[in-house]
Amino acid sequence: MKKILVTGGLGFIGSHTVVELQEKGFEVVIIDDLSNTTLSVLDNIADITGTKPEFHQIDLRIKSDVNNFFKNNKVDGIIHFAAFKAVGESVQNPLDYYENNIGSLVYILQEMRDRNIDNFIFSSSCTVYGQADELPITENAPVKKAESTYGNTKQIGEEIIQETCKAHGINAIALRYFNPIGAHESIKIGELPIGVPQNLIPYVTQTAAGIRKELSVFGDDYNTTDGTAVRDYIHVVDLAKAHIAALQRLLEKINKEKFEYFNVGTGTGSSVLEVIKAFEKAAKKSLNYKIVGRREGDITAAYADTTIANKELNWQTEKSLEEALASAWKWQQQQNK
Ligand code: WQD
Repeated sequence: MKKILVTGGLGFIGSHTVVELQEKGFEVVIIDDLSNTTLSVLDNIADITGTKPEFHQIDLRIKSDVNNFFKNNKVDGIIHFAAFKAVGESVQNPLDYYENNIGSLVYILQEMRDRNIDNFIFSSSCTVYGQADELPITENAPVKKAESTYGNTKQIGEEIIQETCKAHGINAIALRYFNPIGAHESIKIGELPIGVPQNLIPYVTQTAAGIRKELSVFGDDYNTTDGTAVRDYIHVVDLAKAHIAALQRLLEKINKEKFEYFNVGTGTGSSVLEVIKAFEKAAKKSLNYKIVGRREGDITAAYADTTIANKELNWQTEKSLEEALASAWKWQQQQNK
């Protein structure tokens, strides 16, 4: 049985990926520093799959702790989610973001180099494209100077990985996520925003649950069909499955380059107002919202051209926006019990 290390494995996307890995027969070991999640997610994963993954609470900024882990744990591959990810916060605290997101990546890659660990999947983001010149966005779209420190850590991360693969023969795939949303059908795992949600969907569900008074729609003067910004919202389980597909590509050694990257989205763009309408239909309740000014740093539109990911990863999204929103709402109701 192949053993896979999942860093950030108790986080939103990490936990859903751990479930899919276990269900595909992989043995999973999780490293998480619990800075943006809770230990109860480990039991929730076990409730879904029947197997509690091995867990180590480690701060990946501490090189000696990373080294100790690898001294005592042999793994066949690594899926690296662990990172700070709040766009606004990253601009206020750039050094914390570079130390955590880049530092931990370097320490893990050093261990891979020294111990001949070969397969690496990196959690990247469509923010590397900024506002793309053409839509839908293909992998050939130019990477642009990131608008945020968070986005820059993803760009720099990809460059570090590419150079490491070239110099040390590691095989790696970066998955450039669009907007992950929703929750596992069991409603035992989902998004756990701490504090006031920065992302749209948790803010929508918390407004519908009465936790927030009303949703502020950040701008309706964009050059889009209804003036609100457009994004590609992908069900988190579809996204998790893309990680399994990418890992299998590396394990089967059918990757074509040492370093590859794929756009992981649905291929469909939805505006904020379209999301609100779809949510009201899915949740069978109306949502309080108001139009306010644009949010600093937001782009007009981003949605993926998934042709290459579909073909090379032999992977397709299976769930609709409505299904994702319905699962997000069920998850929110579960949190309020
Ligand atoms: C989506 C749309 C907002 C909140 C970011 C990161 C990306 C990834 C996902 C980490 C935008 C609008 C939002 C609200 C709103 N993060 N909005 N009212 O900014 O596309 O992407 O989160 O991996 O890397 O860049 O996602 O959910 O914040 O915003 O109107 O209260 O919803 O303006 O158009 P975003 P988001």
